[in-house]
Amino acid sequence: MSGFGVFGAATLGPTKLRNRTIKAATFEGMTPDGSVTEELIAFHRAQALGGVAVTTVAGCAVSADGASTGGQIVMRPAVVPGLRRLTDVVHEAGAAASIQLNHAGPVADVRANGHPAVAPGKVFSFISLRNSKAASEVDIERITQDFVNGALHAVDAGFDVIEIHMGHNYFISSMLSPKLNKRTDGHGGSLSNRARMARDVAKRVREVVGDRAAVIAKLSMDDGVPGGTWIDEALQTAQWLDEDGALDALELTVGSSLLNPMYLFKGESPITEFAAVMPQPVKLGTQLFGKLVLKEYPYQDLFLLEQARQFIPAVKVPLILLGGITDRAGMDTAMGEGFSFVAIGRALLREPDLINQIKADNHKRSLCIHCNRCMPTTYTGTRCVLTS
Ligand SMILES: Cc1cc2nc3c(=O)[nH]c(=O)nc-3n(C[C@H](O)[C@H](O)[C@H](O)COP(=O)(O)O)c2cc1C
Ligand code: SF4
Repeated sequence: MSGFGVFGAATLGPTKLRNRTIKAATFEGMTPDGSVTEELIAFHRAQALGGVAVTTVAGCAVSADGASTGGQIVMRPAVVPGLRRLTDVVHEAGAAASIQLNHAGPVADVRANGHPAVAPGKVFSFISLRNSKAASEVDIERITQDFVNGALHAVDAGFDVIEIHMGHNYFISSMLSPKLNKRTDGHGGSLSNRARMARDVAKRVREVVGDRAAVIAKLSMDDGVPGGTWIDEALQTAQWLDEDGALDALELTVGSSLLNPMYLFKGESPITEFAAVMPQPVKLGTQLFGKLVLKEYPYQDLFLLEQARQFIPAVKVPLILLGGITDRAGMDTAMGEGFSFVAIGRALLREPDLINQIKADNHKRSLCIHCNRCMPTTYTGTRCVLTS
């Protein structure tokens, strides 16, 4: 499948790509009033010029109550012209543009978006310090349709790839989780009920997008929380998504932005830096309980490979390996294992031109030290603290 190597030309659904590298979504924090800024465009232009095949605009909310932080882009007609300017610039720089569509569900914050958080049921959030309200069947249908509308706006704006967020215990992932979804209706109980929304969103987005863009999903293999989604259920969900045939690729992730955020990343937990940018009383909570909530996990290159390789024999849909991909050796390992693409987050924040550097020198090593101090910068304009 990936016999031409990571730097060979590729296709992702209907989208032609110059290679198999994807800039993973890292929330940019560059849209303080929720619309596209020159800073956001410059960020993605730098990624495109740096050699990736696809750069991903992170965390665009499909509806106002799906935003987890202030200044998030909420998909609506008014944001389409700005997003169009962004995709034009990315295309001129030689890359394809992807947009991550999300509804934050229990991770949404009423203080950021003015709406109570909706989730499969009542869930306490350490971020908003409130309980979410249980979504009604009407809410679930409305949010599903919001994903469809968001995808249509994304196509209008010229995006080549639409990424549906099914990870990190955001709405769709919280519906999948046996820990967070205790519903007794057709969306709760058995895994097939809990996976209903994920499958519906993928099918209905595909239906309206057709072959105008690739449709992919970022799916959690494991929430990193006792009683949450674990790899056995994630494999089954991936197989159903595969059978439905609505997706052009699956990007495999882990963790819970609600209950275990550092499990996504591995590496140092920047508690002091987080507390510094938080308003009270979350600041005090972070100072007192930061070590519990932001539990630290050791980092190693390719830290998701052992889990992700379980999906290779299980599905036909192309797979994207994410997590600690920092050099040519890691990329070659991913291709050799049978992954079709690699997605890279922090190493491309540290050096947006990493792909060009690796192409020029096979032995190039990333300068990212996995300190995770870029995470708190999402509140003020995401950057690597070693480059600013
Ligand atoms: C600053 C920062 C912001 C992030 N924002 C998002 C986001 O908006 N959506 C998302 O799905 N993942 C987000 N992530 C997670 C990355 O997409 C990726 O899953 C994670 O960094 C692991 O990949 P890496 O080892 O290549 O960095 C973020 C990561 C970082 C470091
Ligand atoms: S702040 Fe820079 S070096 Fe630290 S994890 Fe983020 S990108 Fe890597």
